[in-house]
Amino acid sequence: MEKYILVTGGAGYIGSHTVVSLVENGYTPILLDDFRNANRIVVDGLTQILGQQPIIVEVDVCDEKGLKEVFERFNFVGVIHFAAYKAVGESVGEPLKYYQNNLMGLINVLSNMVAFNVKNLVFSSSCTVYGEPKGIKEVTEETPKNFPSSPYGFTKWIGEQIIEDTFKAYPSLNLMNLRYFNPVGAHKSTAIGEFPIGKPNNLMPYITQTAIGKLEKLTVFGNDYPTVDGTCIRDYIHVVDLAFAHVKALSFLEKNEGCFETINIGTGKGSSVLEIINAFESETGQKLNWAFGLRREGDVTEIFANATKAKNVLGWESKLTIKDAVIDAWNWEKKLAEQNEK
Ligand code: UD1
Repeated sequence: MEKYILVTGGAGYIGSHTVVSLVENGYTPILLDDFRNANRIVVDGLTQILGQQPIIVEVDVCDEKGLKEVFERFNFVGVIHFAAYKAVGESVGEPLKYYQNNLMGLINVLSNMVAFNVKNLVFSSSCTVYGEPKGIKEVTEETPKNFPSSPYGFTKWIGEQIIEDTFKAYPSLNLMNLRYFNPVGAHKSTAIGEFPIGKPNNLMPYITQTAIGKLEKLTVFGNDYPTVDGTCIRDYIHVVDLAFAHVKALSFLEKNEGCFETINIGTGKGSSVLEIINAFESETGQKLNWAFGLRREGDVTEIFANATKAKNVLGWESKLTIKDAVIDAWNWEKKLAEQNEK
């Protein structure tokens, strides 16, 4: 029997890699996306990797009638809910767009799960819920949450609360928040990767777009942080490893009736911005045009995961390295450039 998994935002960066990982592990993902924030080329890439086109439903996750019809059509074993806006800066200028889409989407998903008795949910949360960690920068799931610095961050913060409250009211559900650290890299095949819309906000696509010549120069935001080299520290996790964590999460939920868990998904190791730049230059042989600039508002100084719970509970740990990530991200950028030349 097919094990249908609804993957909202399945054409997005993490969603598309998760679709691959699900198929590789015997699930049948139903990719839900309205492509407003995703590139349709993803479908070709997925078809290339999987040998056939995944099942796609073009529905807005906030569309009550549309989503209900999807739940009527498939007998889902579980849901992985990615569909959400994620640009931190944009969320400051357009908070209502973020609260509306990210929270209504989640509420619509949960309502249908309750109505159709679909038990297992994995929710895309973020290390942003820790805000600027006080004291130790290696955060465990018990580290107190802090208010995030953006409406985007709050949608994850409130999203986790909505899930917890839903669990209290419906304890037969199995719900899991995965708190991602910084996803980077691309699928080895270069068939799928990240498609930043407009100018990228995140470090890795900014690096690769600068190296390829799409952008002129990378600005390193701040060199006076109290860290090893004065630049911020993050936990960069390869998107293929991150995708597999969702498969492990689902199989855990399937085996554990009535559970609510929150789990960090990171490597457990922090890297500075300069370390990422150096890794990029040394692994790819590309010289990067970069300069120090002012601090970016809202950036936390340092945060990285304690990833012990992921290992103990899910049996998951990251396998790929920063070296893999910079090489894969660079090969993906070169592939995009070739496609654009055609
Ligand atoms: C942010 C969010 C995170 C979200 C992610 C997804 C916060 C605190 N973090 O992560 O929750 O999931 O975006 O979009 O809200 N940098 C530069 N120059 C650049 C770009 C980045 O120096 O041009 C530096 C930043 O200062 C930071 C690091 O690179 O130290 C990573 O930045 P970025 O990739 O934007 O991710 P976060 O801000 O960590």
